[in-house]
Amino acid sequence: MIEMEKFYIKSPLNYVGGKYKILNQIIPKFPKHIKTFVDLFGGGFNVGINVNAETIVYNDVIEPLCELMTYFSTTQADEVIKELEDNIHNNDLNKENADAFLKLRNKYNYNEYKSESEKNIDFYTLILYSFNYQIRFNQNMKYNTPFGKNRSSYNPNIKKNLEKFVDKINKINVKISEKKFVDFNFSNLGEDDFVYCDPPYLITTGSYNDGNRGIKDWTLDDEKKLLDILDDLNSRGVKFALSNVLIANDKKNDVLTEWSKKYTVYIIKNTFNNSNYRRKNKDDTIEVLITNYKEGENE
Ligand SMILES: C[S@@+](CC[C@H](N)C(=O)[O-])C[C@H]1O[C@@H](n2cnc3c(N)ncnc32)[C@H](O)[C@@H]1O
Repeated sequence: MIEMEKFYIKSPLNYVGGKYKILNQIIPKFPKHIKTFVDLFGGGFNVGINVNAETIVYNDVIEPLCELMTYFSTTQADEVIKELEDNIHNNDLNKENADAFLKLRNKYNYNEYKSESEKNIDFYTLILYSFNYQIRFNQNMKYNTPFGKNRSSYNPNIKKNLEKFVDKINKINVKISEKKFVDFNFSNLGEDDFVYCDPPYLITTGSYNDGNRGIKDWTLDDEKKLLDILDDLNSRGVKFALSNVLIANDKKNDVLTEWSKKYTVYIIKNTFNNSNYRRKNKDDTIEVLITNYKEGENE
């Protein structure tokens, strides 16, 4: 991982399904010159933050996450760190104090905030002490991830990642967009632009939300709509890359496998390859990056 640290910034959100560990297999396959890069399912922004482009669009359907990204992109790193550390201290948060966590979660869910930055810092603080650093909301968009007792906390690694991430997002020309992917406006994109998609995976069970606003589950219908959008981008000459799994936990994604035959499919080497670890199951996970161009094409 030391090599990775030299080249890539890690999101300070420790996002479930985050692509940090495989960035070295994804980013080198992107075109070298990109005008507008769209990270359509931005999440922790592990991908977009590491891309070179004139404009980088962060899109996600979770409003508080988009607001947090806006806060990071408009606030200096030392100020973010100070506000965060003061907040952790003032709220008496640590790995053991479940009461302090619940009190802050309650405040976040029911308080009328006068200041956007206070709200964002409370949200980020909660994430850092949440089970698996997961971001989850219920039906009424109330934050409901449980306490990450003895596991999750603000630590020197996160501080380092946060500093680098905020520095970078301050510098790049980032546009934050809060849309369901189906409502995103692709009409202005052309041949120099690029759309990266890292949607929830149909055949695995990442839990991003159990709430409303159409983000409850990722359905076959969502999957098909996304594939149609990508076909449409392809017909207009817009390049794309899609991260996904063709096989996982003994399940196959047949729709995606069939669709992918039209395009270039790169198999992502799993992160266990360099260790002695071997899965017993021969139907191992097949993680892929699907692109509508070949590496190095037109360059
Ligand atoms: C696998 S995560 C992306 C992780 C990101 N690539 C990273 O490395 O940090 C998928 C993201 O898609 C978002 N999402 C889920 N349904 C969506 C939808 N219908 N439209 C837009 N974003 C959606 C989730 O909120 C989640 O943040």
